[in-house]
This record gives sequence, structure tokens and C-alpha cells, in this order.
Amino acid sequence: MEIPISERLKKLPPYLFADLRRKIAAARQRGIKVISLGIGDPDTPTPDPIVQELCRAVRDVNDPNRHRYGCDVPVAEFPQAVRDFYQRRYGVTLREDQVVVTSGSKDAIAMFPMAFMNGGDVGIAPAPGYPTYNIGHVFAGADTYLAPLLRQNDFLMDFEAIPHEVRRHAKVLWLNYPNNPTTAVADLEFFRRAVEFGRKHDILIAHDAAYSENTYDGYKAPSILQAPGADEVAVEFFSLSKALSMTGWRAGCVVGNASAVRGLRTVKENVDNGILRGIQFAAAKAMNVAEELIPPINAIYRRRRDWVVEALNRSGWNIPKPKGTIYVWAPVPEKYNGSSAAFCTDLLETTGVVVTPGLGYGQWGEGYFRISLTYPDDVIQEAVGRIAQLRL
Ligand SMILES: Cc1ncc(COP(=O)(O)O)c(C=O)c1O
Repeated sequence: MEIPISERLKKLPPYLFADLRRKIAAARQRGIKVISLGIGDPDTPTPDPIVQELCRAVRDVNDPNRHRYGCDVPVAEFPQAVRDFYQRRYGVTLREDQVVVTSGSKDAIAMFPMAFMNGGDVGIAPAPGYPTYNIGHVFAGADTYLAPLLRQNDFLMDFEAIPHEVRRHAKVLWLNYPNNPTTAVADLEFFRRAVEFGRKHDILIAHDAAYSENTYDGYKAPSILQAPGADEVAVEFFSLSKALSMTGWRAGCVVGNASAVRGLRTVKENVDNGILRGIQFAAAKAMNVAEELIPPINAIYRRRRDWVVEALNRSGWNIPKPKGTIYVWAPVPEKYNGSSAAFCTDLLETTGVVVTPGLGYGQWGEGYFRISLTYPDDVIQEAVGRIAQLRL
């Protein structure tokens, strides 16, 4: 028997990478030697001090709670390490009730709207953007307004362009800088304007800071919580995944407005059982020594970024080196008339290199493609060499 899916599931767009995986499999079957630069999942291992701390904690026979539900016997060191990190890194003081630790940010982003949105409410999401913002709205029975990130605005959200009707019904507005997929970065002045907009229209501003630590050439990304009055309307989703090569560990936090933190905590208490204590200890360790562990990881991405951007520019592109994220975002060449799917298919057929078509991030991503830097040096170099042979 085929079980009919819910109206809710019917509303979900196809998973971005499902189509990509199918195309890769088909190309391989045809004998093409495929190199994928499609997915942003760090290839470099988690730094050893973090792994050591996990091993210590899961083996600690003096800790009788070491294998129990992480929510019932939480590790206070983790939220404390988050607070210390925000103080050191941004000069932001967080009270205890302004921090909730999460199993990475994807789950938290998907759950968050359930705490604050009802049917008929609207969530404002960046377009192109990370698909989970919209998915969270759908699960909460709410609608999404896609706010375009345009090149002429340096891919910053234009608050003034958000229609008044949307502002009236909006409960949550998502931002993400450094931005996936456009690689744009925002300064504190932009976050000030975001906070002002949220206060004026009673909209909760949710900043996804998944790439806040993946920055280069001396650039340091600000936190939205540095903006005056931010803790009245804003929360920030921080993740250890990309900063510390910890995607599989599922560790992060949401910080800022205390009532928003409390709402998410209530949803979490009802749908998950917390994080293994060993992971919480390891995450605390990671945050406590983040400043030592992150620069060597970023040095790897910077080197790869340079190879990719310089190779593209030698082949006729003209793109600046991104200051943040683990991606390169580039326009498709003119002869493809703006079709990212046509370019990516042609690239795969002629060179075996897989990149993500911008259209996968919705219509506002059309005309661009994304290269992920989370593949080993030799793979990136091989891919770059193949792209250089493309005749544009
Ligand atoms: C913009 C953005 N936010 C959140 C995430 C989720 O990261 P995690 O759930 O590993 O913290 C990703 C992952 O690719 C992302 O690109």
C-alpha cells in the first residue's frame, strides 16, 4: 500500500542535492570520471583536541551520567563556553536564559517557526538562500515571502523593498551572513538596520551565523547581537559545523532574545532528547579554544578559494575573492543565456566537474552556480585544471 503523504510534505520543494546526486550517478554510469564540488561538508577532520575530549568524556567511568539523555543531565560547560566565546569574540554579554544549545543549526532552524508562527503568518527568507528557512515555515503551517538578494545590493537584503502587506503578517525574518550561497558579507551597520526594521514592525530577526568564523584576509564577521537593542528582537543561530569541521557531531546554539530562546527550548524539549554528554563536553572544549583551532582550517579554505577564483578569472570570469563562507559563487557564462542548469549539465558532460546550479536555490539563484571548497586540495586542483579547458 502506498501511504499518501500529508499536504505539508506536498508543499516541500525537492531536496536540493537529490537531483544533483542522480545526475552524478547517471554520468558515472556513462563512464565519465566525475569530480563533485557540489556539497558544503568539510573534508578536513575535526581537530584532535575536540576528538580527545569526546573520547575522554564517553569513557569517563567517574561520570555515571555519561551515556544518558543529554537533556536530563546537561553539561553546563557547553552553554558557559558559548557565553564566554560571545564575550571574547564580539564583546556581547549573554545571560544564562539567552542561550540554548542545539543539535546543529539545521534542526533548530526547522523547529524554530513552530514556536512562533501560526497558519496565515509569514516568514521572510532570503532568496537565494538555505532551503530550511522555508521548510520550517511550511512545517509550522505558515507562508514564506522570498526577499531577493540582488547583486546590485551586494546581495544584502533590501528591507525597504519588503511590501507593507508582508511586514504586517511577518513574524520572523531570516538573515544569513556570511551568506550561503552568494558568499556576501554584512557589516554591523546592516545589522543595525535589520534590528530597527524588526523593532518597528514587531518581527523577530533570526540571524543564521553558520559561516561567521569561515572568513579570510583579516575580515571578521560581526554578530547581529552587537547591534544596539538586538536582544529585544534578534536571535543568532551559531554552529560548530563549518567553523570547526564538526558537521557530523550536530552541535550548535541559539542565542539572543530570551523569550525566543525559551520558545525554541520548549519545542526542543518536546521533540528531542538533547545531545550526548561527550559531544557537549567536546563542544565546550571546541568553543573554549576556537581561536586556536579555527585559523588552520580557514588557511586551507583560503588556499582553495584562491586556486578556484584565480582559475575562473584566467578562464574569462571576473569575480572577486569572497571574504567569507566555504564557497565561490559565480555567474554562468553568457552563452548559456543565464541558465544555470544548462551550464552545470554542460560542465558535467564536458569536464566531469559537478557544481551546484543557482536555480537549486530558487529562481533568485538563477544565472549563478556555486562551487564548494570542502574537497581535498588535489581534487580541487584537478577540477580547476579541467574547468580551465572549458572553451567559453
Ligand atoms: C546557511 C546554512 N545554515 C545552516 C546550515 C546547517 O548547518 P548545521 O546544521 O550543520 O549547523 C548550513 C549547512 O550547510 C547552511 O549552509
